[in-house]
Amino acid sequence: MNEPQPILVANFKAHKSWDEISAWIEQVAPKCNEFAGTVILCPSAPFLAAAHAKLQTLNSKLQLGAQDISKFEEGPYTGEISASQLKRICQYAIVGHSERRKYFAEGDGDVIQKVDLLLKNEITPILCVSDLKQLDSYVKEGKTIYDNAEKIIFVYEPPSAISKDRDYRPEDPQVADQNAAEISRIFNQNVVTLYGGSINPENIKAFLSKENIAGGLVGQACLDADTFLQLISKSA
Ligand code: PGA
Repeated sequence: MNEPQPILVANFKAHKSWDEISAWIEQVAPKCNEFAGTVILCPSAPFLAAAHAKLQTLNSKLQLGAQDISKFEEGPYTGEISASQLKRICQYAIVGHSERRKYFAEGDGDVIQKVDLLLKNEITPILCVSDLKQLDSYVKEGKTIYDNAEKIIFVYEPPSAISKDRDYRPEDPQVADQNAAEISRIFNQNVVTLYGGSINPENIKAFLSKENIAGGLVGQACLDADTFLQLISKSA
């Protein structure tokens, strides 16, 4: 059996102008075409459409994801972006990131609604799990998540591991692996789980070599294209 290929997600958060994103894409896209795994770029929402057009022009394998999505369907929700609006622009969307929970008071119920809308619109949810207790409500209340676990990319990402001002503070890879295994156990099947939090070129191999970790969600270390290219090389 072939080994599953790694998935790398570049989460730009609220960083970069369009010119900077465009330059990053030009540098990183050619490498993605040689890479057997999947690379997903998540820029800020205003730049998704331009990034989509650029990737089509470049005929690139680099995929696009949104950093969040509205919990509502298309309608009178000022400032929101609905899953149906993004359907033709991106194939993935991050939901449940701990920064959304911390700064925007999102809870498990919001995350369940978002996952439901993404699945209806055939966008793959990249569902961050910052605490395994969240999975209890996904199992009990969120039939959507439990029943569709094989269509979701999970990310085990403890908030304590997220980098701060270039200070990397990763989880122990062994502990990350055990938690990723626990996610599969809870969903009663082998789900795809990434690890997130302070991934950098020095530590990525230690995470990707673990049996239950299918790839990485990268914040700080994706911003510089050269550093991100190193991450792709080390994942190959
Ligand atoms: P980090 O961020 O790689 O800077 O720790 C990861 C994330 O929050 O998605």
